[in-house]
Amino acid sequence: MRYYVAEESEIGDGERRVVSCDGKEIGVFRVKGRLFAWHNRCVHQNGPVCQGRIYNRVVEPVAEDGTTRFQEYDAETFHLVCPWHGYEYDIETGQHPGNPRVRLRAAKLEIEDGSIYVSA
Ligand code: FES
Repeated sequence: MRYYVAEESEIGDGERRVVSCDGKEIGVFRVKGRLFAWHNRCVHQNGPVCQGRIYNRVVEPVAEDGTTRFQEYDAETFHLVCPWHGYEYDIETGQHPGNPRVRLRAAKLEIEDGSIYVSA
């Protein structure tokens, strides 16, 4: 069964909608113009990850001598941070940055006549 989320034009870049689908929740995000849908359950302890804050990925450049001196934000990669204990996930891939086997569960997303639908 599929569930209506919003009109495509109603979710701007960097915005989200979390919808209830008969007891399951799904978050729909727009990043760099594309839409992604994830189940609202963190891999760690099932926290409401889709309601977490969105940050740019933090990176620590390594100098030629092998040292690091600062951290900076990666302007192209956006992470969703679980509000319970801070697990992070790449919004585009659903993967945890430190362990690619840890990932969010994708939900099916469809767009029909400008309307967004998801399937739980
Ligand atoms: S439940 Fe998400 S980090 Fe623990």
